[in-house]
Amino acid sequence: MIAAVVPAAGSGRRMAAGKNKVLLPLAGRTVIELTVDRLLASRLFGRVVVVAGAAEVAEMSRLLAGFSTQAEVAVVAGGAERQWSVACGLAAIGREWEYIAVHDAARPLVSRQALAAVVADARQYGAAVLAAPVRDTIKQDDGTGFVAATLERCSLWAVQTPQVFRADWLREAHRRAGEDGVVVTDDAALVERLGHKVRITVNPDDNLKLTTPVDWQLAEILAREELTGGTR
Ligand code: CTP
Ligand code: MG
Repeated sequence: MIAAVVPAAGSGRRMAAGKNKVLLPLAGRTVIELTVDRLLASRLFGRVVVVAGAAEVAEMSRLLAGFSTQAEVAVVAGGAERQWSVACGLAAIGREWEYIAVHDAARPLVSRQALAAVVADARQYGAAVLAAPVRDTIKQDDGTGFVAATLERCSLWAVQTPQVFRADWLREAHRRAGEDGVVVTDDAALVERLGHKVRITVNPDDNLKLTTPVDWQLAEILAREELTGGTR
């Protein structure tokens, strides 16, 4: 089994609910409960560290208390940037874990098959990220509102979480980013900076990231489909 860091310390500004989106209900439970439940149900994770905003540590600890019979589940306080929250989570994972997954609390519907696939790739290659082919044609601008280039769609990927790494690579990547003052939106970018190759694990399943209110409507449909005998 491996360890997981679950960043949940955002504020959900784009959701505009006046509250951290991972504490909102989805299909009858909070998003953070669904996400942790999904990780534990895969039986791939022996320790899960949820990173909460300082003011939400107590509430999340209470919500997640029941899961501690299945695995070590801890809640720690995070930081103002996602990257710093992940670093706080890493500090709460012991040296005995060889691999660490980072999985956004805001992706509660990741499939069991996708979890298994990205963990297997990380064990083989040292680092792996779930990803889907981009659907839109992506263009690059020239900085003045005009198109500079049209990118080759077949080589572009929309990257998701989990992202799974050798623990030593991930710790070193965060340490170096801290030293160099680099702040990015995904952990793989920090591991790439060290020169390690990161495997792309193609995810054929939905892995919706809850970001705006319309995502909630779609997520309710997907979650209820699963509850009534879906294939995950
Ligand atoms: N996150 C975190 N610490 C932060 C910012 C984000 O742990 N300082 C977490 C979020 O809780 C979320 C994940 O990182 O589970 C992905 O971030 P995002 O979807 O951007 O969530 P928010 O930052 O909460 O949303 P928004 O950007 O709309 O405010
Ligand atoms: Mg954010």
